Amino acid sequence: MRVVILEDAQQVGSWAAEYIGRLVRQKPTVVLGLATGGTPVLCYQRIIAMHQEEGLSFSRVRTFNLDEYVGLPADDPNSYRSFMRQQLFDHIDIPASSTHVPDGMATDVTEHCRHYEQQIQDVGGIDLQLLGIGSDGHIAFNEPGSSLASRTRLKALAARTLQDNARFFGTLERVPRLAITMGVGTILEARQCLLLATGENKATAIRDAIEGPLTSQITASALQLHPQATLVLDEAAAAKLEQADYYRKAEALQVGC
Ligand code: F6R
Repeated sequence: MRVVILEDAQQVGSWAAEYIGRLVRQKPTVVLGLATGGTPVLCYQRIIAMHQEEGLSFSRVRTFNLDEYVGLPADDPNSYRSFMRQQLFDHIDIPASSTHVPDGMATDVTEHCRHYEQQIQDVGGIDLQLLGIGSDGHIAFNEPGSSLASRTRLKALAARTLQDNARFFGTLERVPRLAITMGVGTILEARQCLLLATGENKATAIRDAIEGPLTSQITASALQLHPQATLVLDEAAAAKLEQADYYRKAEALQVGC
């Protein structure tokens, strides 16, 4: 794993945006896996600036989001589809038809999940999957105990995730209990993974994911199996890493995963 430790959340967002921007320039048809939540917002803001000020085009890019709440229509203000429109899609030149977010209102969820996986296969797989991490160590909504071979499916949100996400809904009661999420196995098939983590409430999950054992209790630890996983952290999220000095030195020497 490549571990990049930066000063603050702003730097993490800019670093990730520049990384994604380089990929889009190299391969204008790149397939990006995208994440929602608070963490990637600064990255998306910088991407929008790169589009508006530097002419970075997303006209041929395809995107697949990690997850969606069950029971929220796409146009619900709290749906992840709405989030992506507000935070990114409406501000860049990506055609709506090139963006994919699971449908939280799907009537046949099993078939919808199978189709979502098929759509990823049909475009040749995901080139880069952007990820956040839950305070319980989840990636996407692969909560503790999720199979490390899991595929896109229905998942119940853990109590801690419901609490963490209540900030977006106002009250805990309004947070949907179920989500459709890419599986850990789906994520591991992306050619590259880029996980961002900022803030002290991620420090334990980050330590467990990077320096703990591979375990379904911390699904982000599955990235230890990925040949091209980069984790970009601010100082607060990196605060509990025992080998932080080593990661900094390795990064200075440009030694990767
Ligand atoms: C979002 C997602 C989640 C979040 C994680 C962290 O699409 O899949 O795994 O990345 O819950 O959320 P924030 O960034 O809000 O702390």
